[in-house]
Amino acid sequence: MSLHLLNRSSFGDPQNTGNLLTIEEAHALLNEWVPNERLRLHMKQVAACMRAWAIEKENADTQTALKWELAGLLHDADWEKYPDEHCRIIIEELERRNIDPEVIQCIASHGPKVFGVEPVIKMDKMIYAIDELSGFIHAAALIRPTRYEGLEVKSVLKRLKTPSFAAQVSRDDITDAVSRIDVSLEELIQFIIDHQKDVS
Ligand SMILES: [Fe+2]
Repeated sequence: MSLHLLNRSSFGDPQNTGNLLTIEEAHALLNEWVPNERLRLHMKQVAACMRAWAIEKENADTQTALKWELAGLLHDADWEKYPDEHCRIIIEELERRNIDPEVIQCIASHGPKVFGVEPVIKMDKMIYAIDELSGFIHAAALIRPTRYEGLEVKSVLKRLKTPSFAAQVSRDDITDAVSRIDVSLEELIQFIIDHQKDVS
């Protein structure tokens, strides 16, 4: 992906802390902005993994889990309609709607090498790690006759070592993202398989 530097380091207004979209509002935005069903599925899968991680691994309360989920659901919301301005447009939209700055910062930091914004809190680091892996794992599932059924971590690892498979997915980004969190690549792959396999 080409560079989409945001040239900013601060997102949203701290006064809006706690101001979140409802999940219904977020889905409405997604349906309006993203006609492409495959792209919507990608965002729903990332959202499911983010929400599950917050609840199962970070002991998140309802409000915090919703933040993680919203960031996952909306992180690529402007990609289809504004590919050259991704992710500036969705960031500005959420700022206009006075949404919690942590959600906006998280979206801004989901690709540090592309947007020039470093992940800071765990939520930022997890969206970076989950985003690329989620798409990769989905690609690995789609080429199997039984899809996610029986999909093992080791076969995902093997495909990661095959540069021609899903070549657009940056192995360097995956390595970099996982190096920033206290989670092994194997554990994260298993977690993502388990939590995105039934998302539709
Ligand atoms: Fe994504």
